[in-house]
Amino acid sequence: MTRIGILIGSTRPGRKGEQVAQWVHERAARRGDAEFEVIDLLDHPLPHLDEPLPALTGQYQHGHTRAWADTIARFDGFVMVTPEYNASIPGVLKNAIDYLSAEWTHKAVGFVSYGARGGARAARQLRALCELLRMSAVTPQVSLSLHTDFENQATLKPGARHVSALDTLLDHVVAQSTEGPAATPTQRETGEAAIRRHVDGIIDAVQAKDLEGLRRRYSTDVVSFDIDPPLQHVGIDAKLKNWANVFTFFQEVTYEVRDLMPTVGEDVAFAHGFGRLSGTLSDGRAVGGMWVRVTFCFREIDGEWLITHDQVSVPLDILSGKGVVDLEP
Ligand SMILES: Cc1cc2nc3c(=O)[nH]c(=O)nc-3n(C[C@H](O)[C@H](O)[C@H](O)COP(=O)(O)O)c2cc1C
Repeated sequence: MTRIGILIGSTRPGRKGEQVAQWVHERAARRGDAEFEVIDLLDHPLPHLDEPLPALTGQYQHGHTRAWADTIARFDGFVMVTPEYNASIPGVLKNAIDYLSAEWTHKAVGFVSYGARGGARAARQLRALCELLRMSAVTPQVSLSLHTDFENQATLKPGARHVSALDTLLDHVVAQSTEGPAATPTQRETGEAAIRRHVDGIIDAVQAKDLEGLRRRYSTDVVSFDIDPPLQHVGIDAKLKNWANVFTFFQEVTYEVRDLMPTVGEDVAFAHGFGRLSGTLSDGRAVGGMWVRVTFCFREIDGEWLITHDQVSVPLDILSGKGVVDLEP
């Protein structure tokens, strides 16, 4: 059976890493598709790297290196649990990784990070390091905030969205460890699916007139070039005010988005499409609405895609100076 190692990246007394790894392990142990084991660096007290030859040669002189290599070689994939130390990963984790080479290569790895802002910088650097070692780093990631996911900043109490994110991460690590990279969607496909789900979430929230649901889809500093004046609407409250106006206008509202085309990079993404609001006005009249052009710009913030900018427009008839509102996609 596929074996996945859950590596605790910190060793200091009182570390939170152990709780986080236990949470990952408990959740993983409910699955029947792989075996999971916690790997604790405290059980592998490696000195500062003391091998005379680079790990790439596979020639290990010391017993502690060979023992560490045997441990890592037993696993088909990994979940690495890392805190953020000084905007990076703990030195002890980097040291343990640097000891080996072939034992890591071509194996799947997923990241669970934690820190004041979810340990995002540590996770990013760990991803780059693992990719350099030619590991297959899966896209789904879990980022836990010391402020909101640990009670009194001490006891791990992860919210439901983290449990679901962890399940997705484990799905990818297990699939990739079992069947190879072809079994899992590419990073681009996963990112595009996430952007589509995000826009679907906006559609659902608009139709349910759920302002709080909408608030979760934007960054707090979103800059919206919305269809109505002024030229720009700055900040989440200004953006929500526009949606609140729509909700007063319509008794029942339908929001459609057509031809959505997402493009996804490492931590920024954009998507363009056509949108239309229609429904029943407050006086009971049904209106078909008009198609507008919509561009959403995203940033990945603490492991979540959020809209930081959007643009809504209609083409302008230059001679009359009027917007053209009867076009169909
Ligand atoms: C040396 C050190 C540096 C830290 N630097 C950061 C940091 O840059 N960003 C951050 O969000 N948290 C930082 N922290 C807070 C840690 O993320 C937090 O203490 C976490 O619990 C550490 O993981 P551990 O308990 O498993 O050791 C730092 C903690 C230590 C000990």
